Amino acid sequence: MDITSPLVEMRDISIAFGGIKAVDAVSVDLHPGEVVGLLGHNGAGKSTLIKILSGAYRADSGEIRVNGEPVSIGSPRDAKRHGIETIYQTLALADNVDAAANIFLGRELLTPWRTLDDSTMEAETRKVMGRLNPHFRRFKEPVKALSGGQRQSVAIARAIYFNARVLIMDEPTAALGPAETRQVAELILELKRQGIGIFLISHDLHDVFDLADRVSVMKNGRVVGTARTGDVTQDEVLGMIISGKCPAGAVPGPGALRG
Ligand SMILES: Nc1ncnc2c1ncn2[C@@H]1O[C@H](COP(=O)(O)OP(=O)(O)OP(=O)(O)O)[C@@H](O)[C@H]1O
Ligand SMILES: [Mg+2]
Repeated sequence: MDITSPLVEMRDISIAFGGIKAVDAVSVDLHPGEVVGLLGHNGAGKSTLIKILSGAYRADSGEIRVNGEPVSIGSPRDAKRHGIETIYQTLALADNVDAAANIFLGRELLTPWRTLDDSTMEAETRKVMGRLNPHFRRFKEPVKALSGGQRQSVAIARAIYFNARVLIMDEPTAALGPAETRQVAELILELKRQGIGIFLISHDLHDVFDLADRVSVMKNGRVVGTARTGDVTQDEVLGMIISGKCPAGAVPGPGALRG
């Protein structure tokens, strides 16, 4: 493995649905401990792009590299094998069971006698939740009783317990109030400290600007530009989202207009 390689690179990725180019020659990358925000209006192509990375869709053309090596991602299982996990907006939790049962859902730990190893699963759950959300105490409750932010931390614990290096979060705070949104921001900072790379998708600039190291702005399936958040103002990024013009502090996507 080349230690200078990004965790993930998507190069020149395109996909069309019935003649509409949902994603058109898009390149993005992500380094360890980095948060890259994907921004853009409704229909810009953000979710479609990350669904290609998570294995929900296969690109018509382009290349995905993981740790510098070209990979083929044809299913969510392939993505997970490469350490890429997705937190869906719905979180896909089993509401009637507790955090441990959710974290190990479908990947249960067994004793040498082939029975469920509940005590090890609970101990592991306390360990991984302790890393993410040290104040969490509600280990015995069904997750439907938890707050939105707590549910989010269970979903993230499930992803990282199985060694995710790359986390995709599509609109993670869309359904959350301000306090829970702050809790998710804390979770993201903790994941960064652990060296996990995160693609954070949002159409809310303010949600991502503080957390992201870089942002890539999409419009009509194309990248307008990519910038370090320290090199551009929020107003400039808003201009990229609205007008599709790339300011001086950003690197333009293929064919993008300078503005
Ligand atoms: N399965 C599909 N079949 C047909 N068209 C699709 C499909 N998925 C996405 N599209 C189209 O691709 C384009 C990009 O959609 P996408 O969902 O990626 O946008 P987005 O940036 O995630 O928007 P939002 O902010 O609303 O979530 C849209 O024009 C959408 O209608
Ligand atoms: Mg979307």
